[in-house]
Amino acid sequence: MLASNLSSYMVILAVLSLFSYFTIFPPKMASRIAQIRLVSSHPQVYEPCDDSFALVDALLADRKKLLDHRPAICMEVGSGSGYVITSLALILQEMKTSYYFATDINPHAVRVTHETLEAHGVHAELLTTNIAAGLEKRLAGLVDVMVVNPPYVPTPEEEVGGDGIAAAWAGGENGRSVIDKILPIADNLLSEKGWLYMLFLAANDPLQICLQMRDKGYAAKIVVQRATEEESLHVIKFWRDSDIRMEGNEAVATAKNGSPRGWEFLLSQLSRLSFRR
Ligand SMILES: C[S@@+](CC[C@H](N)C(=O)[O-])C[C@H]1O[C@@H](n2cnc3c(N)ncnc32)[C@H](O)[C@@H]1O
Repeated sequence: MLASNLSSYMVILAVLSLFSYFTIFPPKMASRIAQIRLVSSHPQVYEPCDDSFALVDALLADRKKLLDHRPAICMEVGSGSGYVITSLALILQEMKTSYYFATDINPHAVRVTHETLEAHGVHAELLTTNIAAGLEKRLAGLVDVMVVNPPYVPTPEEEVGGDGIAAAWAGGENGRSVIDKILPIADNLLSEKGWLYMLFLAANDPLQICLQMRDKGYAAKIVVQRATEEESLHVIKFWRDSDIRMEGNEAVATAKNGSPRGWEFLLSQLSRLSFRR
């Protein structure tokens, strides 16, 4: 009897302690992203790697801003395994009002993306296509969030343009062939309040890309920078900024005059150009 009273007393005490602990230290809402064990695969499809993780980390870093942004339409170009678009859909899941599109030039990737989305209970409209061909009219000016981990590795130009696994990395000269095709398409698809999160390698000359985008009225900010053993990755966020013109012209003039200090100087310029959001 005494033992049973004592154990009930201990249980009540434990429950009360847990209750007061969580009242004082409320548990943070865990941000859900795609789980690797549920990400589907195929030998011809790019598996999530450091670059994919950097892009999802950028989305997680901006989670609150993304929720406040209330995107109606989100899109990924080059979805591969579906890890990124699935993570984005899970990050924004509590809103329940966003609609998702994902494209890939590789038909196996589109199938694998479908399986990954399904395994996580989220949905996106999928298209096997070159960048966004077939969606230009339907989505012009409507995409509020676009995410892209493009093929960015510098390769001989002949390697660009396939639809197998090589399409995941073959970026042509300076890794810019596909990137330079995606940017004007993104400009056409993004809404007035649209955000573009795009991953670049240092070899892609991201500052030059930022200056090019600045000419089109976009501000830029590095959300994630990561140096792995093999590469230096940057996830850059772009958004239209009506005040950009005047400051942009000054910065462009400075950069065009050349920098003796190379990449470090360019990065500091890039940070200076950034407007915190
Ligand atoms: C570096 S992988 C990224 C895959 C995935 N988003 C990730 O982060 O793990 C690039 C993806 O872009 C796709 N891709 C390459 N060129 C493309 C194009 N012109 N149009 C659409 N997708 C393309 C590739 O097939 C590949 O799946």
